[in-house]
Amino acid sequence: MSAQKPSSGGNALWGGRFATGPGALMEEINASIDVDKRLADQDIAGSLAHVAMLGATGIVSEADARAITEGLKKVKAEIDAGDFPFSRALEDIHMNIESRLKDLIGEPAGRLHTARSRNDQVATDFKLWVRDALDALDAELADLQRAFVDVAEEHAATVMPGFTHLQSAQPVTFGHHCLAYVAMLARDRGRFADARARMNESPLGAAALAGTAFPIDRTMTALALGFDGPQRNSLDAVSARDFALEALAGAAICATHLSRFAEEVVIWCSAPFGFIGLSDAFTTGSSIMPQKKNPDAAELVRAKSGRIIGALNTLLVVMKGVPLAYSKDMQEDKPPVFDAMAALSLMVRASAGMVRDMTVNADAMRALASKGHTTATDLADWLVREAGLPFRDAHHITGAAVRAAEAKGKEIADLTLEELQAVDARIGPSALEVLTVDRSVASRVSIGGTAPSRVREEVARWRALLDPAS
Ligand code: ARG
Repeated sequence: MSAQKPSSGGNALWGGRFATGPGALMEEINASIDVDKRLADQDIAGSLAHVAMLGATGIVSEADARAITEGLKKVKAEIDAGDFPFSRALEDIHMNIESRLKDLIGEPAGRLHTARSRNDQVATDFKLWVRDALDALDAELADLQRAFVDVAEEHAATVMPGFTHLQSAQPVTFGHHCLAYVAMLARDRGRFADARARMNESPLGAAALAGTAFPIDRTMTALALGFDGPQRNSLDAVSARDFALEALAGAAICATHLSRFAEEVVIWCSAPFGFIGLSDAFTTGSSIMPQKKNPDAAELVRAKSGRIIGALNTLLVVMKGVPLAYSKDMQEDKPPVFDAMAALSLMVRASAGMVRDMTVNADAMRALASKGHTTATDLADWLVREAGLPFRDAHHITGAAVRAAEAKGKEIADLTLEELQAVDARIGPSALEVLTVDRSVASRVSIGGTAPSRVREEVARWRALLDPAS
C-alpha cells in the first residue's frame, strides 16, 4: 500500500474502496486477459476514437489528448512487436492497456476513461471484432463459391445419380449439384451481411449503463470507428449481445451446409462410390491398413460444425437470464465466438481446398447414374406427353415396366421396345430415347433444372454476381 494510493486493494484502477486484493481463485475465475487479449487492436482503435472526441469537445485538454494518443500508439507497437507485458492481475485487455499507458505517459493516462466505462468499451471492442470476422469470412465464402463454380462449369454435362433418401432418384449433372452449394453459400453470406448491417451501431458513450453528464459527441466516435451512428439506448448498448448471437446463428447454419458437403465428400470418395478422388494433400493414411486413404479433412469439417452449433447454444444460455444492464456473465461471450469463428474460417478454407483438389471420376458417376431405374419418371412423362395419359395412370404403367425389368434382371432403360409394349401397347419407339440418362438430364430445362444448358447459364450468372467487374 503506497503513500499516494492509501487503499489500492491490489488494483490501481478500481481498488479505491478495497482494503485487500482478490484471492487467487477470484483472480483465476475473474481474469479474462488470456481470452480478450485478442481484442487489443479493437480496444486501441476504440480508445483512439474516444480520446480524439474528448480532445475535440474540450473534455480533456489538447495536450493531454495528444499525450494519450501518442501513448496508445506506443502501446500498440509493443503489442504488435510481441513484447507487451500482459498481466492476469490486471484482469482484462482494457485494464492491461490503460495500465501500460499510465507506465508510459503518467498522469494524463488517467483521463482516458473520462465519460467511458468498461461496459461500453467491451461492447464496442467486441462488436468491432465480430464485424472484422464477418468481413474476413465473407471473402473466404466467396472464394469457396468460386471454387464450386469452376467445377460446375467443367462438369456442366457430367451425369451423376441424384438421390432422395440416399436412394437413386433421377440423374442430375455434377455441375448442378455443385451449384446447389453455391446457392446455399450465397444465402449464408446474405445472413452475415444482414447481421453486419444490423450490428453497425456504436455502443461507445453509453458509459456504464445510463449515459454520461459530460458533453460527449457519440456521433463523432461512431463514425470514426466505421459505425453508421450511435446506439440510441444506453442500457441496450451495454447489455446487447444479440449481434454476436446473430453472427453465431449465421455461422451455425453455414456450418451445417459445409458439414453436409463434407458428408458427401466422404460418401463420394468411398470405394463403392468412387465418384471423386482426393490427393495426398487432403487425406491421411491408416497405421494398419496400407491401402487406406482417409478423407480426414472432410470428416473434420463435418465434425467441427458441432463446435459452432455448440457455441451458439453456449451464448444463448449465457445471455438468457442476465438482467439489464451489464453482468459479469457477459464476459463468457467471447470464448464461444472466438472459437466458432476460427473453426468456421478453417472449415470454409479446407472446403475450398478440397473442391479444388478433387478429381472427378465421370465414368463412375455415369455408371451409377442409370442404376436403379433412374429414368423411370422420364417414361411416365413420355406417356403423359405422347400418349395423352393422366400422370397417375402413366406412373402406374411405368411401375409395371419397372417390375417387368426387375423380373428380367434388367434396368428399365435396357428393356426392348417389345418388352415395353408387352407392359403397355401405347409405348412407342421414341420412348426408348427418353430412357437414356443424357436425354433425361438434357430435358430438365425448367428454371433451376439440371440440364447442362441451364447449368451453363447459371455458371455465367454466378460469375457475374461474384466478380461484377470481370
Ligand atoms: N472483461 C470484461 C468483459 O469481458 C470487461 C467489462 C467489465 N466490466 C465491469 N463492469 N466489470 O465483459
